[in-house]
Amino acid sequence: MKPIRKAVFPVAGMGTRFLPATKVMPKELFPVVDRPLLQYAVDEALEAGIEQMIFVTGRGKGMIEDHFDMAYELEHTMAERSKDRSVLEGTRLRPGDCVFVRQQEPLGLGHAIWCARDIIGDEPFAIFLPDEFMVGSPSCMTQMVKAYEKLGGNIVCALEIPMEATPSYGVIDPGYRDGPITEVKGLVEKPPAGTAPSNLILPGRYILQPEVMRILETQATGAGGEIQLTDAMAQMIGKQPFHGMTFDGKRYDCGSKAGFVEANLALALAHPEIGAAMRATAEKLLAE
Ligand code: G1P
Repeated sequence: MKPIRKAVFPVAGMGTRFLPATKVMPKELFPVVDRPLLQYAVDEALEAGIEQMIFVTGRGKGMIEDHFDMAYELEHTMAERSKDRSVLEGTRLRPGDCVFVRQQEPLGLGHAIWCARDIIGDEPFAIFLPDEFMVGSPSCMTQMVKAYEKLGGNIVCALEIPMEATPSYGVIDPGYRDGPITEVKGLVEKPPAGTAPSNLILPGRYILQPEVMRILETQATGAGGEIQLTDAMAQMIGKQPFHGMTFDGKRYDCGSKAGFVEANLALALAHPEIGAAMRATAEKLLAE
């Protein structure tokens, strides 16, 4: 079984839900307390043993390249002043382990992933949707890699949500269940209200076999007129093992304003430096 060495991060989206904050600033670099959202996803990948990060970017996303580069002046000045540079850990990846490709047109998540096909080559790979923020120990992807080592094939993260929210997500048609593992019998992207096969959705973490790239090559448009990753994955079911894994941890949907603010609140309250003060502030605000 080939190990998971590469990960794709689709980061080309315009982030219109967060305008005007996203007019210049990529939403993937919004901080949750003091780390950019995308940094948490890269940290998660590194913890899972993934070596090469492939960012599918677009125009106006140059700041992401700078974030993962060496900031020479900053590091030099910090070293001169004997400041602790460990806060920059994980931001400067090994030369060659950080790859950028551009998705020229917003044709959908499936198309964004397909843009990385030549870099993925013939290896299984991971996908992280960085606005889905996963907090867990071990991390979500570490748990998924463990499941992959047992089951092989394709593993998607699976999450139970209220049935009425399913039209916003990719949804699993479940087969047998064995602890956190669910057999995936089918997948449907953004089912109309009342038609979802379950309330088990895809919250943005995937381990896929490279054959999905061949399927995406000719994939017709699906929900919302976009080339959907979910539709391509659905075509692999029956041909390769396909399982969902319920993750032991907490998920924040940072693609929504409420989820993003909740993540900031939760991490601030748990923060070793500011947690206690934040709790006092929150109690004061609630009492007002
Ligand atoms: C995408 C995927 C969907 C998944 C969701 C998770 O949808 O297409 O299957 O459930 O991310 O956030 P989007 O949020 O880009 O519409």
